[in-house]
Amino acid sequence: MYAIVKTVHSYWAFLVLIILALAILNAIRGKASGKEFGANDLRISLFGLIFSHIQLLIGLVLYFISPWFDKWSTLGMGVMKNAESRLYLVEHPITNILAIVLITMGWSMHKRQNASTKKFLRIALFYGLGFVFLLSRIPWDVWI
Ligand code: HEM
Repeated sequence: MYAIVKTVHSYWAFLVLIILALAILNAIRGKASGKEFGANDLRISLFGLIFSHIQLLIGLVLYFISPWFDKWSTLGMGVMKNAESRLYLVEHPITNILAIVLITMGWSMHKRQNASTKKFLRIALFYGLGFVFLLSRIPWDVWI
């Protein structure tokens, strides 16, 4: 069970990062060109939102079944003294939850705007910031 969830989380991360990158580039291009916010712009932004929310759910399940989680009972607050356990148990989950909150805010805020340029700006800014948060706490050295 743990191995399957970990593998899914690991591959799904690729999809999340690729789709978010496409949504951000699309929003920057849309804003710069002053074009109308159309069905495809809505679709790619919505995919970014859905894929990142699915990753959040997979991550939450993984958190409690990962061997890392046992460190809370063996080390207690000692997990904070070790860079690796701190990354997996505290920094990675908290930063990624914040990133997904930002992405969700960007999605809701774009919906409340009428002007296309403002819609593109909300997506570019909030998805962009969320993306940077995600990249900042990925365990790059062990990822695939
Ligand atoms: C979009 C958000 C996220 C991305 C892109 C992401 C990405 C990753 C990646 C690339 C790994 C390394 C996988 C490997 O070793 O091959 C990982 C591990 C891990 N992630 Fe996430 N993650 C996200 C959200 C979360 C969240 C929200 C949680 C928990 C609440 C979480 C919990 C974990 C845990 C516990 C591991 C370590 C698994 C282990 O080695 O036992 N992740 N994540």
